[in-house]
Order: sequence, then C-alpha cells, then structure tokens
Amino acid sequence: MLFLLIGASSFSALLIFGSRKVWLGDDSLELPPSISEISQDRRLLGHFPYPEADQNMLVVVHPGIRVHLDTARALKKMTAAAVSDGISLSFLSGYRSHNLQKEIFFEVKSERNQTAIQRAKVSAPPGYSEHSTGYAIDLGDSTRPETHFRKEFENTPAFKWLEKNAPRYHFTLSFPEGNPQGVSYEPWHWRYEGSADALREFENARTRSSSIKN
Ligand code: DAL
Ligand code: ZN
Repeated sequence: MLFLLIGASSFSALLIFGSRKVWLGDDSLELPPSISEISQDRRLLGHFPYPEADQNMLVVVHPGIRVHLDTARALKKMTAAAVSDGISLSFLSGYRSHNLQKEIFFEVKSERNQTAIQRAKVSAPPGYSEHSTGYAIDLGDSTRPETHFRKEFENTPAFKWLEKNAPRYHFTLSFPEGNPQGVSYEPWHWRYEGSADALREFENARTRSSSIKN
C-alpha cells in the first residue's frame, strides 16, 4: 500500500512537472514538452489512433457491411466505373467498432498464440484501426474469391484496375509493400480521402509515418 502511494505520488509529480507552468511558483519558466508532445504521434505497435465514426453517418453498402456515407457514395461511383470496364469488386469489410476490433485483435491473437507485435503486423489494436472511421474498405475480386484477404489479390484484374483508377475516386492503398508503419502488405485495404474530414483523420498516417520509424 505504502509502495503504491509513493508510486502514485511520484507519478502525479511527474505529470505536473511535465505539463504546465506550475512548479516552484515561477510562472515565467519555460517548460519541458508535455507527455503527448514527447510521444509525438501516439502510435501503438505502428498503428495510429482513430475515433469511432458517427453512427448516424454509417450506411449499408452490402449485407453486414457499413461505411461512412461519403465512402459509400465514392464506392458506388467507383464500382459502376469498374463494372463498365468488366471488373467486379466485392466489399469484404467496412466499419468496425472498437469492440469488434478488440475481438479481432485479442481473441484471434490468443487462438493463434501470437505476440502483440506479431498480431499488429496484420491487425490493428482496438482504437487504432482505420476501419473504425468508416473510411476504410477491404476490397476483393468477385471472380477470384480465393484471393480475398490474400497477397495474391494483387494479381487479380480488380487490383490492377484499382491501382490505375482508385485515386480518381479518392481511394488510397493504406498499407503498400514496405509501408513505414511496419504493417504487412494489404493490397485489399483502401481508405477514402475525398473530404476534409477524411483527410484530417489520416493526416498522421500520410505525413508522420514516413519520418518516424517503428
Ligand atoms: N488490417 C488492418 C491493419 C486493421 O486491422 O485495421
Ligand atoms: Zn482492412
């Protein structure tokens, strides 16, 4: 108990020291950077933090799959253009709540006997998945279901079409090969960046991940 009190008291002293102009009664003192400034981009195992989408903005694009309304509108245009080029895109996963991400991360990690570092290569911890925003979508090629969620998706007509045309609809591949976040290559995972809100959500992923190593 005594140890805990000492520990708690040292911790709060550290927080006070690291935050505002409050120590030793000298208000002109230049302070050290705050804890959040020190941690810089708040990444966890390579993944950036993301809030949950506003539930009122989510719409169904396929049975069991919801995305942000803006993502849905862009997907509708993109899939129509793909169809006219003879390409059939499948929607595999869209919005995921923090709770669902928790199951995907921890339960699968446990089933597969993986360490957190191993698991984070393929799945974001809860609170850190682009899928929580409603702007991320996992795409497949309807004619090649065996490539769903697999690296081999990159060899499908759908992926080749996406590589060439997705930017026109404001979709970006989030985890290309050798991405600086250290996440495994996911040719199926695309994020929508066609609004100021969406751009803001991914500002860190776009600008910070290239300059800071895991
Ligand atoms: N598979 C990606 C990294 C996610 O879980 O968000
Ligand atoms: Zn994904």
